[in-house]
Amino acid sequence: MDGVGRKALRLRRLKPSGIRRMFASLRKVPDAISLTLGEPDFSPPEHVLQAFTEAKKQSHYTPNLGIPELREALSRKAKRDYGLSYDPENEIIVTVGGTEAIFLALFATVNPGDEVLIPDPGFVCYEPNVLFAGGTPVAVPLREENGFKHSVEEVRSLITDKSRVMILNFPNNPTGSTLSYDDAAELAKIAVEHDLIVVSDEVYEKILYDGMEHHCLATFPGMRERTIVINSFSKTYAMTGYRVGYAYGPEDLIQAMKLVHQYTAACVNGPAQYAALAALEGSQEPVREMVREFSRRRDLLYSRLNEIEGFECMLPKGAFYVFPNIKAFNMPSEELCDKFLYTAKVATVPGSAFGKYGEGYIRLSYATSYEKLEEALNRLEKASRELLPTS
Ligand SMILES: Cc1ncc(COP(=O)(O)O)c(C=O)c1O
Repeated sequence: MDGVGRKALRLRRLKPSGIRRMFASLRKVPDAISLTLGEPDFSPPEHVLQAFTEAKKQSHYTPNLGIPELREALSRKAKRDYGLSYDPENEIIVTVGGTEAIFLALFATVNPGDEVLIPDPGFVCYEPNVLFAGGTPVAVPLREENGFKHSVEEVRSLITDKSRVMILNFPNNPTGSTLSYDDAAELAKIAVEHDLIVVSDEVYEKILYDGMEHHCLATFPGMRERTIVINSFSKTYAMTGYRVGYAYGPEDLIQAMKLVHQYTAACVNGPAQYAALAALEGSQEPVREMVREFSRRRDLLYSRLNEIEGFECMLPKGAFYVFPNIKAFNMPSEELCDKFLYTAKVATVPGSAFGKYGEGYIRLSYATSYEKLEEALNRLEKASRELLPTS
């Protein structure tokens, strides 16, 4: 035995997610306020709940790509939101959340030894999925001084003749950063120049503040044919438990994803697909209402955190996370999160859970009520006074 036991060798570089570790610790402090969640604390809109109940008799397999009505509605969405045409017959796939779409996109395009550029800090699924596919993850630093966005020069310097895929995620988890039109255009230009496939994770596209606009990567010149756009009902419609995501892309890549999907998931839960259809076709006011509330909470966290000694926080323009710099505490983010949990009874996620460039930061989710956030901030303020090194 080589220390991996009966586990397959391909899993040897995989570690459990740092977020899960935090969840496990959270159980030991039952009255802690959790700012760890990556899911809205809202219920799905009423019409979604109703459509799910009405569809419960749909007890059979659906087509691998998803029910035609949902694919047609998604095709209309792409036209409406991005001005792009995707054929519902072969350029759209409905998946088990955005999570499965990410797996399929990488498994279907990455060859062993291919390099995949992944954002760091970045969503915890990217690196493991690159490894599943036999690829080599190459971390692209998203630096605070650059607004947690890619530096074009740095991306160029990391590209080699083995680079095949670039994963992008804006609005970004964990930093809340978003791309301007010009930022997105620059990244698109690099992808075209180097003939990269782009996996663009846009699950937070509707959770934007201060009038920011979303720029779908597939809309830039030369990008539609090389981009797999990943999206999900989880965040926009507070439907995390329904497990419905989707991807748009050129026919050859979507068909490659379908090949993997039909032998792994077969199809997405049928009633959940009808619920997703209702979400798309029904009123979008609940989404706007949710975003207004997120915006109020973001303002609270941003202003209060910046008043607390030890935290320096950038104003996030999207998603529902703040990612303050905690370097003043002079300890690793994991240790600081443990201290906040056990002394302040506030659970947060260490930046290191999102990659090595996440060290020096922690992630706080504001998918928690305003009142709980206020209480959490009071507790953090008190604990910080005790934890800061005395000069
Ligand atoms: C950036 C990003 N992409 C994808 C997902 C996957 O979400 P789901 O599988 O629920 O659609 C998440 C969830 O946290 C996320 O933060």
